[in-house]
This record gives sequence, structure tokens and C-alpha cells, in this order.
Amino acid sequence: MTNTPDKVGIDDIAVAVPRLFLSTTGEFARARGIEPAKLSRGIGVEKMAVPDAHEDAATLAASSTLDLMRNNDLLPEEVGRIYIGTESGVDEAKAMGTYVIGMLEEVYGSGTFSECSTVEFKSACIGATHALESVACWLKAGEDGGWGEGSGSDVSGRRRRRVGIVVATDVARYEIGSPGEYTQGAGSVALLVDRDPRILALDPVMGIYTRDENDFFRPVGMKCAVVNGKYSNQCYLTAMDGAFGSYRKRALSRGIFRLGDGEGVTDHLDNIIFHIPYPRMAEYAAASLFRREWRSLPRWREVEEEIGTEPGDPGGEEGATVEEKAEAKDEADYQRRFSKSAKFQEAYGKKVKPSTLISSVVGNIYTGSIYLGLASLLVQGLLFPGKRIGLGSYGSGCSAAFFSGTVEEGIGSVARGSVLKKLDERVEISLADYEDLHRGDRLESVIPPVGEFALLQIDGDGYRRYGFVG
Ligand code: CAA
Repeated sequence: MTNTPDKVGIDDIAVAVPRLFLSTTGEFARARGIEPAKLSRGIGVEKMAVPDAHEDAATLAASSTLDLMRNNDLLPEEVGRIYIGTESGVDEAKAMGTYVIGMLEEVYGSGTFSECSTVEFKSACIGATHALESVACWLKAGEDGGWGEGSGSDVSGRRRRRVGIVVATDVARYEIGSPGEYTQGAGSVALLVDRDPRILALDPVMGIYTRDENDFFRPVGMKCAVVNGKYSNQCYLTAMDGAFGSYRKRALSRGIFRLGDGEGVTDHLDNIIFHIPYPRMAEYAAASLFRREWRSLPRWREVEEEIGTEPGDPGGEEGATVEEKAEAKDEADYQRRFSKSAKFQEAYGKKVKPSTLISSVVGNIYTGSIYLGLASLLVQGLLFPGKRIGLGSYGSGCSAAFFSGTVEEGIGSVARGSVLKKLDERVEISLADYEDLHRGDRLESVIPPVGEFALLQIDGDGYRRYGFVG
């Protein structure tokens, strides 16, 4: 008898952020000579989360995972996978998940996770999305799927729940004084991936776009990313466009939904959550995607009445390259006019903007940013049964994935969580403390750890000793 679950996806979410933050609009803006409104409105980031001396991507991952397990009364033996999406690896060989399991075993007991597998998924900011796909496929395979173990049995033969956890965790770091600096952030999102999920049952379709690019990368040994800022925005938009086109084709051919007269795919997505390197980027992505869909729909007439007709493709019949698009002034002006149009602003305000709430006070957490978007909808009470949510994930280098899922009946029993309270309770630090922490000059914690995981020591061989500080 087969035991393949119909629905798999995200059942619960837990978020961990450092206790420290730096406001972008105060001392920081003055020191860098930037108008505060550019950062709060033009970029959309008001506060950046800053990791303390005892925090790194591994402590943040352990912290969100512990919260997720406690909130769901999960036992270690019920967790078959802890897959970690990160580009802030703390070791070139050893999987971050083994450090995370070591920390969790300080709480649950030595050896309690010995039957849980762990691997690190690195693909810049899209890593956690591929980890989610992998864990969902593992569950979907069910116990008769050979490798699948979605519901295992214990030594006595009793059935038991087996779930997977995907952890997105990163510390975003750019050079001090660079244009990337004011988008920095740090944090972790743990996703409980289960059968019959309460938050989001994943549709069995994912649109993908990949190509080799140099928009953003971090060579081995470097602490800060090398980034071609404006070009990275353009790569993001091109890849998202490609992934959305691929999703559209697959979703329609698989009958995920049908388009009525004058409808586009975005009409069937109640919310769209994009990767959020900074909130305005989600607005640029939404403008690019809605414009692409709407230009062939009857409603485009209304848009043209407001902002005029589109300029020709700067690449002529062949279509424009990324560079041509970035440099074409008419095109950039038209895109700006579109993004200010009433019709777009209405759709953006309703479908996309609410997902940027947490990112605006945390900054970029790279691969977890898109899932902070999902947490943002959850904490605002915006997830209702039957809603279909689209997700556009982007990783530099570059690759994009567009996928979707539906909110399930069980959403009513998901706690909205304490993330907003945690964010309110953070402590603002001075610019000098932030810069010391950034350079690694400060070894003492600004707030000594209490009731949390901490990096205690790096020994002579480079092995990292972590612990739970009570
Ligand atoms: N008041 C209000 N708005 C203002 C303003 C003011 N006083 N002054 C400027 N602005 C607006 C600008 O008009 C602009 O908005 P519009 O696009 O609507 O015109 C906005 O502020 C941004 O300003 P700039 O265009 O001057 O941008 P910037 O020089 O500050 O650089 C950036 C922005 C390129 C994203 C830079 O922050 C950067 O390099 N960031 C790191 C890379 C990054 O995040 N890339 C995103 C895509 S790649 C990715 O997504 C992966 C990842 O996570 C890194």
C-alpha cells in the first residue's frame, strides 16, 4: 500500500534576529552623508539587524530551530531532515547543520538527533528555496518512495510523525561606506515542512531561470560581498521574469488554475512574495512582473491613458540584453512612470507591499528574506484559507525560482508568533559599536548572552565551540 501524502508544505515558521540594531536614519545617515529619506523611503530600510560578537549564522539557525521545535512540541526523533540554506557558511567543509545539531543537543540531550540528516544548500539567496523543494520532495516520496521516509516507524514498529526543517540563515555584510552597507541585516527563519501543512500547501510546479552572472559573489576567504549594485538589480529582474514565464507555462499546462477572459496569472495570486534584499527591490520586481502580464490584457488601455505608450524594445527585434535594458533611458523612464501609476500602486499595495514589513526593520537576511515576507503576512493576519500565494525567489550568480501554494484551513491554529515583540525589544547600538562589530574588532558582546546559543570560542584548529548560555 502506498503512503504518498497529497499535500506537503510549510506548517509553521519561527524567526530569530539579533538583539542589536542600527537605525539607518540617525547617526549612520549623518556619518555617510545620506539623506535619511533616501534610506527609509528610497531603499525602504529603517533599521538593520546587527549580530553581536557571540552570534553568527549558526547560532541564529539554532535559535530559530529551537523556537520552532518548542512551539510545535516536536521531539528530536521526529525531525528527519534539517536542511540549511546559507551563504554565510562558518566552515569550508563541515556542514553548518552539524554545529546546529550540536547546539540543539545541548538542550535535548546528546545523540538525540543522530537519525537526522543535514546538509548546507548554497546558492546565494535562493539556497533555502531549493532546500525547501528538496525536503518537500522527501516528504512527498512517503515511506514507499525508496529514499522517502515521510512517515517512519520506531523500533517497536509504531508509526510516528517524521517532519523536515528548513532553516534559512545569513549575515549580510558589505564594505563599510559602500552602497550595499545600508541594506545589511542578519537573521534566520526556520520552516517546519510537513504533510497536510497549515500555512502553505505547495503547488507541484516551480518555474526556474539560471545563468552565469557576476552581479554579486564572495570569493573564498572574503568577509564582504563583491557587488555590482545596479547591475545586480537588473539581473534580479531578468531572472525573475524568466522564472515567472517558466512558472506560467507549467502552471497553466498542469491546470493549477485557468485564466478567464482578460485575466493574467497574477490575478490568481492573492499575494506575491519576492526575495527582499531591500523593500524597494520587491516593488521593482512587482512593477516588472505586472507590466509584463498586463501589457497584453484589456486593462493596459487604462494604464496607457495614464502614462502613455511604451517605448520600443531597446534591443530591437532580437530583444534587449540585460546591459541594454539597464542603459536604455526611455525604458527606465517608462518603467518609473508605470511603477507610479494608480493601477500598479493599487495592486502592489494589496498584493506585495505587506510582505516587506519585517524586512524594513531587519534589512537583508539573504536567503531567508523571502520567508520573512511570509512571516510578515502571518503576523499581520493576512493569510486566509484558500488564498494562493506566489513566491519569487532570487539568488545572485544567478538563478530565480517562481512557485506557489495555497493557505490551508489549519491556518487558524497557527500562532502569529512573537516576532514583532522581539523586534520591539531590541537595543539600538552606536555607529562606533556597529563598525567595531563589522570589522571583527570587538570580541566582547555588547549584550552578554543569556538564555540563548552563543559562539564561545574558536580553538587553535579553527573548530568552533558553541553552547547554550542559561
Ligand atoms: N528621498 C527619497 N528617495 C530617494 C532620495 C531621497 N532623498 N534619494 C534617492 N532616493 C531614491 C532613488 O530615487 C531611488 O528610487 P527610484 O528607483 O524609485 O528612483 C532609490 O532611492 C535608490 O537609490 P539609488 O538608485 O541611488 O540606489 P543606490 O545607489 O542607493 O544603490 C543598490 C542601491 C544598488 C541596491 C545598493 O544598495 C546595493 O548595491 N545593494 C547591494 C546589492 C543588492 O541588494 N542588489 C539587489 C539585487 S541582487 C539580490 O537581490 C541578491 C541579494 O540579496 C544581494
